Amino acid sequence: MNLDTLFEASAAACKQAVDGITIRRPDDWHVHLRDGAMLRAVLPFTAGQFARGIIMPNLVPPVTTVAAAAAYRDRILAARPAGSDFEPLMTCYLTDTTSPDEIEKGYSERVWVAAKLYPAGVTTNAHHGVTDIKGLRPVFERMERIGMPVLIHGEATDPAVDVFDREAVFMEQSLLPLLRDHLGLKVVIEHVTTRETLEIVRAHAPRVAGTVTPHHLVINRTSIFQGGLRPHLYCLPVAKREHHRLALREAVTSGDGCFFIGTDTAPHLASAKEAACGCAGVFVGATALQTYVQVFDEEGALDRLEAFASLNGANFYGLPVNNGTIELKRHAASMPSAVSVDDGEIVIFRGGEAIPWSVGEVRR
Ligand code: NCD
Ligand code: ZN
Repeated sequence: MNLDTLFEASAAACKQAVDGITIRRPDDWHVHLRDGAMLRAVLPFTAGQFARGIIMPNLVPPVTTVAAAAAYRDRILAARPAGSDFEPLMTCYLTDTTSPDEIEKGYSERVWVAAKLYPAGVTTNAHHGVTDIKGLRPVFERMERIGMPVLIHGEATDPAVDVFDREAVFMEQSLLPLLRDHLGLKVVIEHVTTRETLEIVRAHAPRVAGTVTPHHLVINRTSIFQGGLRPHLYCLPVAKREHHRLALREAVTSGDGCFFIGTDTAPHLASAKEAACGCAGVFVGATALQTYVQVFDEEGALDRLEAFASLNGANFYGLPVNNGTIELKRHAASMPSAVSVDDGEIVIFRGGEAIPWSVGEVRR
């Protein structure tokens, strides 16, 4: 046996020997928890995996004021399962009339940590979003001054733009000009789905970061039509071609500090998705970490999972990393296929499927 073969054999043995990994407790920097019965149904899944979550403000009506964000935070805290220490980090929904003073008030009072920019009409509950990004100049100037990040759903809203090109068009027409106009503004490009957007993030790091969802790492646009129309794989931004998926896998496992978790877990009733005009959003909260760790394992990058899951995001937001650990086990398990809520059920992404990794013990 030559030396190379020996090394390969030893690496293979090592790999086989890994029956799990333990990492610092992770955070989810993009979560839709909704409200009421749906909040109570989905929160335990996110709280069981993540220590903190950036809570999206696209409720009906949207969370546009400090008072509304504080009240929503209280409802989330009250809905936590007994003993949970999950910490919701709130956001402000930007509209054409958002005032810089309100933004700063919520930030200095530590009610919210970031503001969310939805181009008007871009996605679920985005109709109160921003119609003219340049019109928000005073808001962005204030955010730049106080160091508050803006989290961007980066898709063009012109219906004439092909749905698979909306992210690319937004980056060219809106994101790059915004970055040029506000050189100190901290920006998260959320749920990145294209190779080109990954390059934009890297080129502008560290003041720009990108989140990547679990589902965009394992499905491509063909998956949505595999054997028929699969409404539970439909989200925005819609999954792209295979080469983009491969680039996303490469980016998250690269160790680059500008990428971190943002699951975009987005529960909807099955009846709202299995419809003539089904809504966008994948409920991935119950299988998020299992999917991420599987991807890192498949890419031979388990040693880089902790940076992506537990370090890079906190570093970007200037928050301390979590104490405590979570164990991820190479032990196949399946989640239920759906979760019941009062008036229906929410289908779980990869629910019912034997996933080769499962979540083990959480230590505080
Ligand atoms: C999200 C939702 O349902 O709130 N849907 C989605 O497809 N991702 C909104 C969003 O983040 O776009
Ligand atoms: Zn989202």
